[in-house]
Amino acid sequence: MTQIAPTSLTLRRPDDWHVHLRDGPMLAAVVPYTARQFARAIVMPNLAAPVVTAADAAGYRARIEAALPAGSNFTPLMTAYLTDGTEAADLLRGHANGVLTAAKLYPAHATTNSAHGVTDIFTLMPVLEAMAGTGMPLLVHGEVTDAEVDIFDREAVFIDRVLAPLVARLPELKVVFEHITTQQAVDFVDAAPATVAATITPQHLHLNRNALFAGGLQPHVYCLPVVKREQHRLALRRAAVSGSPKYFLGTDTAPHARSAKEAACGCAGIFNAPYALESYAAVFEEEGRIDRLEGFASEHGPRFYGLPLNEGRVTLERVSQQVPAELPAGEVLVPFHAGETLGWQLRV
Ligand code: NCD
Ligand code: ZN
Repeated sequence: MTQIAPTSLTLRRPDDWHVHLRDGPMLAAVVPYTARQFARAIVMPNLAAPVVTAADAAGYRARIEAALPAGSNFTPLMTAYLTDGTEAADLLRGHANGVLTAAKLYPAHATTNSAHGVTDIFTLMPVLEAMAGTGMPLLVHGEVTDAEVDIFDREAVFIDRVLAPLVARLPELKVVFEHITTQQAVDFVDAAPATVAATITPQHLHLNRNALFAGGLQPHVYCLPVVKREQHRLALRRAAVSGSPKYFLGTDTAPHARSAKEAACGCAGIFNAPYALESYAAVFEEEGRIDRLEGFASEHGPRFYGLPLNEGRVTLERVSQQVPAELPAGEVLVPFHAGETLGWQLRV
C-alpha cells in the first residue's frame, strides 16, 4: 500500500518495462541510473548488431551484469528482436530457460537500429502463435514506417493496419503496446482484451509537440514516437492515473551522446533514467492521484508479465532538486528535465 505523508511517499520498488541500455562504455555509463531507480527492467534489443537469438540475449545479459556497480540489486529482463528470419523454437527455448522474457517487434526502419525489423508481421504468425501458447509477451513499437504517412499519424495508422487485425486474429497473445502517444492508442487499449497493455513514458506525459520547437529546435525532446498534440498528452495522463492495470511504467530511456543529439541529423531518444520516478511522481501529483503511482510503477507491470511483485521499498521525499544540465558518461549526456526543478527526490 502506498502511504501518503506530507513529506515522503514509500512505495514498492518499481520496475521499468522499457529501457535502452546500449553496450560497451555507454552501457557502463547509463546502467547505474536504471539500477538505482528500478529493481528490474525490460531491456531493448536494438543494439547496432541487434539481439536476435536467445544466445545473443544471454551474451548481452552477461555484459549488463558485468557493468552493474558492485552491490546493485537489479535484474535485466531480456528481449529478442524479431526479424523475418526469427525461429519460433529458439524463442521458446530462450523463454523456457529464463533467458528471454519477451520478443520485440520493430517495423523495419521505424527507429534507431531498426533496419532489421519485420517487413510484414503476418508472415510471423507461426512464431506469434507459439508465443501465445507459452504466454511470452510481444512488445510492439507501434508505428507504420510508410513515408507517405504523416509522422504524427503513424501510431494511429499502425493501430488500424496492424495492431487491431493482429489482436483480432490472436486475442490470446499478450501484447504490450509500447510508449503510447495518442488518444487513439488509449482508446484501443481500453477496448482491447485483457491480454493487451501499454507502457507510457514520462516525456509523453509532460510534453506536447510544441516542446520540439519552443524558442527554436529542441533536439533533447526529440524521441520516437514523436510527442503529439496536447489532447493526446491529456489522454495519456488520464490513462496513466486511471488505475487501470493495462497501463504501466516504461521510460524508453534512450541515451545518445550530446554530440549525436545536437547535430544536423539528430538522433531520436530521451535519456530519462536518472530522475525517472521523480518525473512520473510530478505527473501523478499534478493529476491529484499520487496514490495511484505505486500501481502504475510497481504492480501493473509484473502482474501483466506474470512475475512476482518486488519485495523492496523505495521512498520519495518531498525535497526539491535541480536536474543538472548534463551528466558525464564518457561522452556528455543531457538528461530529461535538464535545468528544471523536480519536487520529489528518490531515496533508495
Ligand atoms: C530509441 C533508441 O534510441 O534506441 N529512441 C527513441 O526515440 N525512443 C529507439 C526506440 O525505442 O524507438
Ligand atoms: Zn524504445
